Amino acid sequence: MTQPYLSISQVAMQFPARGGGLSTVLTDVDLAIEKGQFISIIGHSGCGKSTLLNIVAGLLTCMSGGILLENKEVNAPGPDRAVVFQNHSLLPWLTVYENVRLAVDKVFSGQKSKTERDEWTRHNLALVNMTHALDKRPHEISGGMKQRVGIARALAMEPKVLLMDEPFGALDALTRAQLQDTVMDIHQRLGNTVMMITHDVDEAVLLSDRIVMMTNGPSATIGEVLTVDLPRRRDRLKLADDPAYHKSRAAVLSFLYERHRHPATAA
Ligand SMILES: Nc1ncnc2c1ncn2[C@@H]1O[C@H](COP(=O)(O)OP(=O)(O)OP(=O)(O)O)[C@@H](O)[C@H]1O
Ligand SMILES: [Mg+2]
Repeated sequence: MTQPYLSISQVAMQFPARGGGLSTVLTDVDLAIEKGQFISIIGHSGCGKSTLLNIVAGLLTCMSGGILLENKEVNAPGPDRAVVFQNHSLLPWLTVYENVRLAVDKVFSGQKSKTERDEWTRHNLALVNMTHALDKRPHEISGGMKQRVGIARALAMEPKVLLMDEPFGALDALTRAQLQDTVMDIHQRLGNTVMMITHDVDEAVLLSDRIVMMTNGPSATIGEVLTVDLPRRRDRLKLADDPAYHKSRAAVLSFLYERHRHPATAA
């Protein structure tokens, strides 16, 4: 049997509880992801989505189970898994160009010449339409632009897997739509393997090949996985009239608001 590209097997995670002892956040999390797939993870606040993403990133170590990427165990952060967080984590004293170049130098200093690293930095900033602001510092650009730079920096590392934790969560609806289109376009062109956390059902359906729906914590796990069978390229305006789009959307909404309602909002 061929191994999946990225496999999450029997992952369990506990954190120290307030009153002593341990509280189980995740249990029995199993997921196999094929190369080039775009996976979204959706679930109510606090169920453990970021915890799972951080385990895949190697920023947290799970208590049992494990992660395999191309058959190699993941147990530390590495450039093969680039992370984009909700709150852009750019270095404020560096320009847009320098923020990306720093990552490029770190990953490719032995492999690419200086000129090639310069071109690669510019190329990735062009992918996210940021060529006009190469010399600006983070405080001089908008939130959406910072997020573009964060995505360019992650892509420039040529990671095997792109991990995104609510990458568009802090943005207004129009900027969010623009960035979703940019990410869709890049995924279509480069075929990256992506794992993205979102709270936005429309975003999940628009972008994903599969939507992983998590049950509520404590002891959260994967409840259902929905395959989104919409052909690519997807066009948000055309999808508005597509029954298959509405069916996928309804399936996620029903999971989140009927079958696995957040305890705080359950009647
Ligand atoms: N370092 C930690 N120590 C103790 N508990 C933690 C730690 N990190 C997370 N938790 C707990 O684990 C649970 C899951 O947290 P996590 O951040 O993964 O949730 P989430 O699904 O990403 O939520 P949100 O949608 O609000 O971002 C929460 O109850 C949280 O309080
Ligand atoms: Mg989170």
